[in-house]
Amino acid sequence: MTARLSDTVDSGQSFSLDGQAVPFQPGETILQAATRAQRYIPHLCWHPDFPAQGSCRLCSVKVDGHPGAACTVPASAGQAVESNTEELNGRRKMLLQMLFVEGNHFCPSCEKSGNCLLQATAYAMGMEGPHFEEFYPDRSLDASHPDILLDFNRCILCELCVRASREVDGKNVFAIGGLGIATQLLVNSRSGLLADSTMTLDDRAAGICPVGAILPKRRGFAIPIGQRPFDLKPLPVPGPGDLVRSVAAAASPPAKPRAGRKLKVATVSLAGCFGCHMSFLDIDERLFELLEQIEFDRSPLTDIKQIGPCDIGLIEGGLCNAENVTLLREFRAHCKTLVAVGACAINGGLPAQRNHLDLGSLLSEVYRSRQGLSAGSAFPNDPELPLPLNKVRAIHELVHVDYFLPGCPPPAEAFWHLLTELVAGRTPQPDFGLIRYD
Ligand code: SF4
Ligand code: SF4
Ligand code: FES
Repeated sequence: MTARLSDTVDSGQSFSLDGQAVPFQPGETILQAATRAQRYIPHLCWHPDFPAQGSCRLCSVKVDGHPGAACTVPASAGQAVESNTEELNGRRKMLLQMLFVEGNHFCPSCEKSGNCLLQATAYAMGMEGPHFEEFYPDRSLDASHPDILLDFNRCILCELCVRASREVDGKNVFAIGGLGIATQLLVNSRSGLLADSTMTLDDRAAGICPVGAILPKRRGFAIPIGQRPFDLKPLPVPGPGDLVRSVAAAASPPAKPRAGRKLKVATVSLAGCFGCHMSFLDIDERLFELLEQIEFDRSPLTDIKQIGPCDIGLIEGGLCNAENVTLLREFRAHCKTLVAVGACAINGGLPAQRNHLDLGSLLSEVYRSRQGLSAGSAFPNDPELPLPLNKVRAIHELVHVDYFLPGCPPPAEAFWHLLTELVAGRTPQPDFGLIRYD
């Protein structure tokens, strides 16, 4: 194990990080020195108590113009290190997006939300949507241990638990196995289950996971909202103006208002809970101000059933059935600017949790075999009912999306910002605090 960063003493040597001097001790890496100086370099697989692993590449910087991982490159006097640049933050955001789509990350239902390094780093890098198609891998849970839950769907393969178990606990409970996309965390026990290992709740490995993959049982959601580590203390990013915007957001200029004409806005709820529409209404009396500049077309708020040509379309919810697909295509065809609103539209959200299950078995369980059904119960077969999709999909998997407004639901202030900026013909640049995944 390495010495604590606070144990070191200033040696008088320094390098420059984004133009500002950072002192370091001989033997320290760039990331160690920067962290001691309270300068933020994004990272996931590094922990101050362990030797660097260098696998996630989130900490990639440029050292005298050459790429390197800040957690493994030793600091040396006079180095010019670049970290907070548009190019590097753009690459980091892409890595984060790949991590999000490679696993199953439904923050609104995750106990780690608000206390998760992956989520906090995604906020810090201005990640507003997944950008890539979701994999929705079918990975199991291991709930066999009496005190600890393993959710392989959220593991980012940082190996911190592997290292903690081996180097601190002396148990070697975990390992990483497999190749390429099949690489995964393994439990070193005869059955492969955690219950058959020697792991206990007070092991270092039980408390080190930076995401919601290793969780203590019976402590879910124990930290109140507002007191979770990243609610109180967001990662020290320089400021929202410096963050990289989503690729999709940069691709389409906002719909421009024309003198004397209100912008037409349509909204719809696909596979969601309608919470985003409720949050939108929390704009309260400022809705009157907004209505000076916009008017609603098709929307549950107006009860208009047909959509005409619109400037802005707000879509809540993901794609769960054939009707959702038709509606989404219709919206895309009629709206100059399309906004994916909320977790369900952006990554399938809570409805996508059924993606782990086979649809046929699921329907069978619900309509034919579960307890309490009347005799002869059958699948509903009315032609009016839309056919379900095998998997719940995010809307950007089917159509081009111009903006993403994350949150479950996004706060009213985020809707206000989005619409007032679009009405003014500007690209929305939501503040750090308005981008929430939970
Ligand atoms: S809060 Fe949970 S679901 Fe969200 S990124 Fe972290 S581990 Fe994944
Ligand atoms: S379970 Fe957690 S600590 Fe272990 S490798 Fe996965 S993300 Fe890292
Ligand atoms: S923190 Fe440096 S590679 Fe992961």
